[in-house]
Amino acid sequence: MKNYTLKAFDHCELYVSNAKQAAHYYRTALGFLPIAYKGLETGSRDRVSYVMKQNKIRFVLTSPLEKNTEIGHHIDAHGDGVKDVSFTVDDAEAAWKETTRLGAESVSKPKMIEDERGEAVTATIKTFGETNHTFVQRNNYGGVFLPGYNVFEDDSIADPTGLVHIDHIVGNQADGEMQQVCDFYEKVFGWHRFWTVDDNDISTEFSSLRSIVMANENEKIKMPINEPADGLKKSQIQEFIDYYESAGVQHVAMSTKNIINTVIKLRQNGVDFLPTPQSYYDTLIDRIGEIDEDINTLSELGILVDKDDDGYMLQIFTKPIQDRPTLFYEIIQRKGSNSFGKGNFKALFESIEREQHQRGNL
Ligand code: FE2
Repeated sequence: MKNYTLKAFDHCELYVSNAKQAAHYYRTALGFLPIAYKGLETGSRDRVSYVMKQNKIRFVLTSPLEKNTEIGHHIDAHGDGVKDVSFTVDDAEAAWKETTRLGAESVSKPKMIEDERGEAVTATIKTFGETNHTFVQRNNYGGVFLPGYNVFEDDSIADPTGLVHIDHIVGNQADGEMQQVCDFYEKVFGWHRFWTVDDNDISTEFSSLRSIVMANENEKIKMPINEPADGLKKSQIQEFIDYYESAGVQHVAMSTKNIINTVIKLRQNGVDFLPTPQSYYDTLIDRIGEIDEDINTLSELGILVDKDDDGYMLQIFTKPIQDRPTLFYEIIQRKGSNSFGKGNFKALFESIEREQHQRGNL
């Protein structure tokens, strides 16, 4: 019996080269509200962080304020990307003790942080590539995010896009490393294999992948772990590894209760999505059966649909959100289905491969 509980995703921290401009994109394009800040004005001399929130989703956007920092080196190696996938826990010290005892490498020991609004405990371990997991325990904290952050003082407002919570976060691994990363989650966290897909399920003429979805006990935290599989040409997973220079977070999937309204709004805000070929919709009803949404609307917006025994789900993927073909976002609405869109992988891959071809990387 474990002596701590992982409750849910807490937040994702991204290391980016210009946090101020990134925060502007998250606000005006994705509809997140800046709620907290730390930087020179709050006494943080080496780094600046903006905390962006929409419903239960929080991103922390961090940039260095001086040279030769761990943040700067991370950005140099990987470009902008996810540094930390953090989990809300009931006991950060117990989580750190247990996971490090079971073989996880510590990044920082449990520490109590406090300000006038209360206290919290955080501790951090390493996972794949240069990515970390931070345990966040803030049961005695009444501020907006964590001690050390001030309420964001600005009159900026956000127009929410209907994003509700993080559905899953995907880690891309180098060829042959998927199993050992899944073993890590099994051994260190006691997670289970929720769903798998192999190269017989997902392949186009050119490329394919293998994926195992790892989930915690309450299945609120789901992390698909991917690796490239051999194809005639370069797998999109390999392209990620080449440009990220290591394993790392490939995409964060965010849920919505109305994907049509969310995607209309995101498109109006200038978010770019992977295009879906018209031919995908010609056979959609045969494959999925009747659904609540109008197929023409889905087709105009490029939204994909897949089903399993429990229901169906709708999803769409953004193009990479930085110049390197690395991190992107998924928007997902689940209507009964808890799976990961196996039926869409082929259409999705073909769309990604057209983009890869344009980049000269196929
Ligand atoms: Fe996904």
